[in-house]
Amino acid sequence: MCSPPRSHPDKDIMSLRTDAYIDGQWRSGAKRFPVFNPATQETVAQVPDLGAAEAEEAIAAAHRAFPKWAAKTAKERGQIMRAWFDLMIADLDRLARLISLEGGKPVAEAKGEAMYGASFVEWFAEEAKRAYGRVIPTTTPTRRYVTIKQPIGVCAAVTPWNFPMAMITRKAAPAIAAGCTIVLKPPHQTPLTALALAELAENAGLPPGVFNVVTTEHAAAVGKVMCESPLVRHFSFTGSTEIGKKLGAACVGSTVKKVALELGGNAPLIVFADADLDLAVKGAVMSKFRNAGQTCVCANRILVEDAIYDAFSKKLADAVAKLKVGPGDQEGVDVGPLIDKKAIEKVELMVGEALASGAVALTGGKKHAAGAQFYTPTVLANVTRDMRVNTEEIFGPVAPLIRFNSEDEAVAIANDTPFGLAAYFFTRDVNRAWRVAERIEAGMVSINDGIFSNEVIPFGGWKESGLGREGGSEGLDEYLESKFVNFGGF
Ligand code: SIN
Repeated sequence: MCSPPRSHPDKDIMSLRTDAYIDGQWRSGAKRFPVFNPATQETVAQVPDLGAAEAEEAIAAAHRAFPKWAAKTAKERGQIMRAWFDLMIADLDRLARLISLEGGKPVAEAKGEAMYGASFVEWFAEEAKRAYGRVIPTTTPTRRYVTIKQPIGVCAAVTPWNFPMAMITRKAAPAIAAGCTIVLKPPHQTPLTALALAELAENAGLPPGVFNVVTTEHAAAVGKVMCESPLVRHFSFTGSTEIGKKLGAACVGSTVKKVALELGGNAPLIVFADADLDLAVKGAVMSKFRNAGQTCVCANRILVEDAIYDAFSKKLADAVAKLKVGPGDQEGVDVGPLIDKKAIEKVELMVGEALASGAVALTGGKKHAAGAQFYTPTVLANVTRDMRVNTEEIFGPVAPLIRFNSEDEAVAIANDTPFGLAAYFFTRDVNRAWRVAERIEAGMVSINDGIFSNEVIPFGGWKESGLGREGGSEGLDEYLESKFVNFGGF
């Protein structure tokens, strides 16, 4: 039986947990590092800068906790997770303000993320009860065959700053529901939400060692321990393709552990001439400007059919010019700051290069007066396929428009990338909808809709966008091993 949920003792955002969480203990560490508000660059907290030794310690704690946690029934684990979910929902406002404070997204959008994040805990608490094996029809009268699913063991996860809550629960919830224990390294930019989740987990009655949070500025040292430890059986990473390849290689090369990678994208959003243009504009704005363009599934480039190029570009530029830019805690803000100096410099550089090569800014095209890390929502016309805004992930509020003349050309441009995470297109032709959905090389295709993420779908990419799926029933399978059992001697 789970212990009854306790309500959060203090809803004030400044009553933050700022210590790391290992084996059910709050750990302060000898050194600490600052967490900044990206809207103002002010320091909002200092958290422990832990290293390889503490990562080893957390893994050992997770290893000790594993047998008892795995031995619980899925229903028992689900009850504790349900309590964790209830506490998240009760604390939604504080979580949203925290996500906004350290990650920069507007509070209303952050509240959406908090609900999205909590939904994985609810979903997997229920889904784990359905971790079915199979009975395989025998090939000989003297044998019977079955498969069973069992938790893989200790898991390690490295999560990104663009979803300080949801990318944690999308990994931790299936792992914990499956009967695994987990060590999490949150990003150094947004560790506070991770610690708030640990506090809620503790209040929900999650036993010590099941969920551990190692805060650090030394990602490489902690990552190395996670990848190479023989006690860790599953490693999950969300972040860049460049880092993901190295971590994946280290995991397989050292201890052949199972790896899940959610990596970069370069999502096309195609607007065919037969599309509902207002719907396409709405979808493009939703997809492109979510979290100021800082999601892996944001439309990176917008491909527009020649016949409607002018009409669509004008409508899009008008809509984008109306987006309100400002700090996430300001009422009515649509687009917050970028995460750090490096991010804004990259966007400035890519837009500058495009403009110098013949692109035209229909709106924006420069930094925003709201502060050092704000970029004006931008629409670039006359973008060509060789420009970096087409070939690389921008991760900023910039929509490059590329013209095409036929369905074949649109599909060829869309697929001309090593990435294959998400793709969007707008059409009113149902045959084209099927045809193009089948031809696009991506793990997720969204038709006539700029947003699709939720807990019940399998989220993940093709090609260099990753390995494995998160969410849905597939998300649970990641954390289960399948075991074949032969009953002989009949
Ligand atoms: C991501 O950017 O990695 C996640 C986006 C989502 O879950 O919708």
